[in-house]
Amino acid sequence: MTVAGIDLSANEFWGLPLAERAASFTLLRAQQRPQFFAEPEVPFAFERGPGYYALVRHADIVEASRNPEVFSSRRGATSITDLPVEFNEYFGSMINMDDPRHARLRRIVSRAFTPRMIARFENDVRRAATAIVDDLLAAGPCDFVPQVAARLPLKVICDMMGVPDDQYEMVLTKTNIILSGFDPEFISADPDEVAIQLLGAGQELAELVTGLAAARAQAPADDVVSALVTANIDGEQLTSAELASFFILLVVAGNETTRTALSHALMLLTEFPEQRALLLADLEGRIGGAVEEIVRHASPVLFMRRTLTRDYTMNGQDYREGDKAVLFYYSANRDEAVFADPERFDITRAPNPHVGFGAPGPHFCLGAHLARHEITVMLRELLTRVPDITAGEPDRLLSSFINGVKRLPCEFAS
Ligand code: HEM
Repeated sequence: MTVAGIDLSANEFWGLPLAERAASFTLLRAQQRPQFFAEPEVPFAFERGPGYYALVRHADIVEASRNPEVFSSRRGATSITDLPVEFNEYFGSMINMDDPRHARLRRIVSRAFTPRMIARFENDVRRAATAIVDDLLAAGPCDFVPQVAARLPLKVICDMMGVPDDQYEMVLTKTNIILSGFDPEFISADPDEVAIQLLGAGQELAELVTGLAAARAQAPADDVVSALVTANIDGEQLTSAELASFFILLVVAGNETTRTALSHALMLLTEFPEQRALLLADLEGRIGGAVEEIVRHASPVLFMRRTLTRDYTMNGQDYREGDKAVLFYYSANRDEAVFADPERFDITRAPNPHVGFGAPGPHFCLGAHLARHEITVMLRELLTRVPDITAGEPDRLLSSFINGVKRLPCEFAS
C-alpha cells in the first residue's frame, strides 16, 4: 500500500475491509503533512471544488475544532462538496452555521437537553431497552440492526419530540434516505431522482414536526417541542422553519449515530471476548469506560468538514482562505500518538480523549450525554439478560460519512 494509492474520495475506499481502511489511515498519519484529495463525485450537478486537505491527526482535529473563526462550518460541515446555503441550513440547521447564528440556535435548543429533561428521558430509555430485549428474546437469533440497534435511538428521539408511535417507521425511512451516503439500497441511482428524494424526505419530516408544534402552541405541555416553540424571558424562540430544520438535524444526528455505535458494540464484544468477560465481571464498574471505547473504536461519524476563513498555518501546514479541511475523527481516534495500540478494543483505556463526539469547540455533540446514556442502558440490559449474544458478518453501509452497519446477524442460546 502506498499513499498515492489511497483515495479517500473514492466510494470503493469506504467499502474496503475495516482493517485495510484503518491501515490506510495509519499511512496517512505517518506523512509529514495532511494530504490533498480531489473532491468526490456526487450525483448532483452542484459545483465541484478543487479538493480538500484530509486532517488525520488528533492534534490537527483538536486545533481546528478549537478555532471556529478560522475553521468555519457555515459552508457545510456534513458534505465535502459545496451545497447551496439554503440546502445546508434546511438539512443541517446549526451544524452548518457559525456563531452568532449558531450560538443563538444552540442556546434555544439546549433547553431540550437540560438535566431535568434528560432525567425524564432516562426512565423512558430504560423502559424502551427492556421492551427491546423482551422482543429480542421472543424473536430468537435475528438481524440485530432493526431488532435492537435502530429501535432505541429512534424511540428516544420520537418520544422526546412527541412523535406518535405510528409515525416511527416514516421517520426511520426518511432518515435513512437523508443519511444514505448514496448507498443504492436507500436512494435512487438517478441524479435527478436523488435531489427529489432528499428534499421529499426533508419535507415530510418538516411537516410532521410543524404539525406537532402547532398543537403545542395551542396547548403547551411540559415537553421539548413546547420548550422550543415558547419564548423564554429574552423573547427567544424557534421559528417554525428553524424548528423543522432542528428536528431534521436531531433525527438524523441522533438516530444513525447511536444505532451505529450499538451495532459496533456487539461486533467489538464478539471480536474481543476477553473484553466482554472483563465487562461482565464488573458491569457497573466498567460500563462507562466501555461506552467511551466503543465510541472511539466505532467512530460512528467518520468526518466533519470545515472551510478556512483566512490564510492560516497549523502544525507546519499552510492553508489558504477558502481551503477545505476534512476532520477525519475516525483517524484521530486511531492516532498512535494519543492511543497506544489503537486497533485494540480496550474498555479500561484511560485516559480516553477520543473525538467521536467531535473535539472540544462550539459544535461538540449536543446529544453526547443522551447518546452515552442510551448506549449504557442498552448494553446493560442486553449483557445482563443475553450475555452470550454474538455478532456474525456485518453488511456495512457504503458511506464516507457514517461508519454504518445495515445488517448484523446475531446469535444467542439464552
Ligand atoms: C454515538 C452517537 C453520536 C455520535 C458519534 C455523534 C457525533 C457527533 C459529532 C462528531 C458532532 C460534531 C459536529 C461538528 O463538530 O461539526 C455532533 C454534533 C451534534 N450532535 Fe451528535 N452524535 C451522536 C449522538 C447524538 C444524539 C443522540 C443527538 C441528539 C439527540 C445528537 C445531536 C447532535 C447535534 C444537534 C449536533 C450539532 C451541534 C452543533 O452544531 O452545535 N448527536 N455529533
